[in-house]
Amino acid sequence: MDAIPTRYEAEDLLYQSGQDNPGGWYDHSQYVALGAEIIASHHPQLDSNVAYILGLLHDIGRRTGQSNMRHTIDGYRYLEPLGYSDSARICLTHSFPIKNVHAHAGVWDCPPEDVAFVAGFLADTEYNDYDRLIQLCDALALPTGFCLIEKRLVDISLRHGVNEYTIPRWQATFDLQQYFEQIIGGSIYELLPGIVENTFSTPMSSDLHTLSTGPVTQNGQADLALPSFFEAASPA
Ligand SMILES: [Fe+2]
Repeated sequence: MDAIPTRYEAEDLLYQSGQDNPGGWYDHSQYVALGAEIIASHHPQLDSNVAYILGLLHDIGRRTGQSNMRHTIDGYRYLEPLGYSDSARICLTHSFPIKNVHAHAGVWDCPPEDVAFVAGFLADTEYNDYDRLIQLCDALALPTGFCLIEKRLVDISLRHGVNEYTIPRWQATFDLQQYFEQIIGGSIYELLPGIVENTFSTPMSSDLHTLSTGPVTQNGQADLALPSFFEAASPA
């Protein structure tokens, strides 16, 4: 995983993309990055800085405006020409804990040939622990912060509905949780700040696209309406 931007470059890419399409996805992306960084720091083979960068850009395809599953391939096509093929890969794999282009929450709002491309990419890709980690962290982060996986999964289903893959997909996500908890030797919930507050004290996220963002600055740094721990985790 070396074809990725630097941490600063990734923060700048996200910042610019958040300006292009403001929404809850912007804060969500930062929490996914922070969660990935924290969990990776307890994983013997993962680099926490790499995990942070991959998490930060996993939804970058949402920069183009309102989209559904198209955001995966939009993100891939944005990052790949920049030379960040490892980050581009995460844009595609993060939505598929089950390797099946139909096993997702949402609809494919792009041409059939694009769906076929994603299907081929997934078939040719052997998931590594970075793919798995971002899949897991995507299921842990609301725009308001970390929450119990169950809350995030229900939130997604309330917004996108359910299909025949919903329960297998949920099970695959819980399998990811168990996989990483065995590696780190403890509960992921003991590592992530704000779980109790965000699980029990805030409403569902509603739509990631329409939630407003907090105040932002020009330098791409994480001084949004996020807790102070995030600023501490994101050096200039
Ligand atoms: Fe996401």
